[in-house]
Amino acid sequence: MNKTNQLPLSGQTSIVTGASSGLGQAIAISLGKAGSNVCVNFHGNEDGAKETQARIEEIGAKCIIVKGDVGKPKDVAKIFEKTTGAFGDIHILVNNAGIQEDKPLVDMSYEEWDKVIQTNLYGSFLSAQTAAKTFLSQNTEKSPDKCIGKIIFISSVHDIIPWGGRVNYSASKGGIKNLMKSMAQELAPQKIRVNSISPGAIKTPINEDQWKDEANLKVLLKKIPYARIGEPEDIGKVAAWLASEEADYITGTTIYVDGGMTLYPSFAED
Ligand code: NAI
Repeated sequence: MNKTNQLPLSGQTSIVTGASSGLGQAIAISLGKAGSNVCVNFHGNEDGAKETQARIEEIGAKCIIVKGDVGKPKDVAKIFEKTTGAFGDIHILVNNAGIQEDKPLVDMSYEEWDKVIQTNLYGSFLSAQTAAKTFLSQNTEKSPDKCIGKIIFISSVHDIIPWGGRVNYSASKGGIKNLMKSMAQELAPQKIRVNSISPGAIKTPINEDQWKDEANLKVLLKKIPYARIGEPEDIGKVAAWLASEEADYITGTTIYVDGGMTLYPSFAED
């Protein structure tokens, strides 16, 4: 018997972008654990994608890996086509792929600005738009009774906390915040739920300079009232829950999973 029967997401199919490492890998595994078939998208790191796939198949869920750049419309179309080809209807998109390239504002080239916006904001838009079109084409009823699809953006606490030296990154995440809300408003009547998860500091390759070095970690922990750095699984579990029927009445919301980073902890000392 298929081990994924009766789980919260059994019979459903998910796409996770940038799932060859870090949060994307943990989210893909959590969705597999919840019973979903998973498409693991990767950009450069095929070995990482294969590792994610092996860990999902070990659980007993089905998984494919698909190479593609989320900033390119043709690649995004291919990711969705391959997933439909493998599993049929698609139910969940997690827009996780993202990059960070730091530079003081006055030194930032147009290319350095554009590269981050292209991946983080355009990539999220393209994947979310394709997901919405796919959900609607799979369900032709005008006002369905039940949820027909779920879109989750992996944003950042920097969609509300300004971040000097990284204006490209924080602008991309701030853009995602209102992209998510506007999409949620537009798609709710068609029973598509759209939400964001905004992580604080989570131990992944994107920020290893901040947690591998003990002195840097000490500085970082001062910004986290809950006094620990996050683990990728902290985000994976929330994503699986948010995609499930348990969260059916949630749309247009951002869930901050940040150990209290957005509580402005330095004010506690005043
Ligand atoms: P990561 O560097 O391990 O993951 C980023 C993933 O995106 C990689 O697998 C990379 O190959 C993929 N990627 C990059 N460009 C791509 C493209 N053009 N097309 C497809 N995939 C592409 O870092 P992490 O931390 O797992 O980042 C995942 C998401 O979480 C990002 O959107 C990041 O901004 C966000 N985030 C991470 C935080 C953290 O503390 N780790 C905090 C807040 C947000």
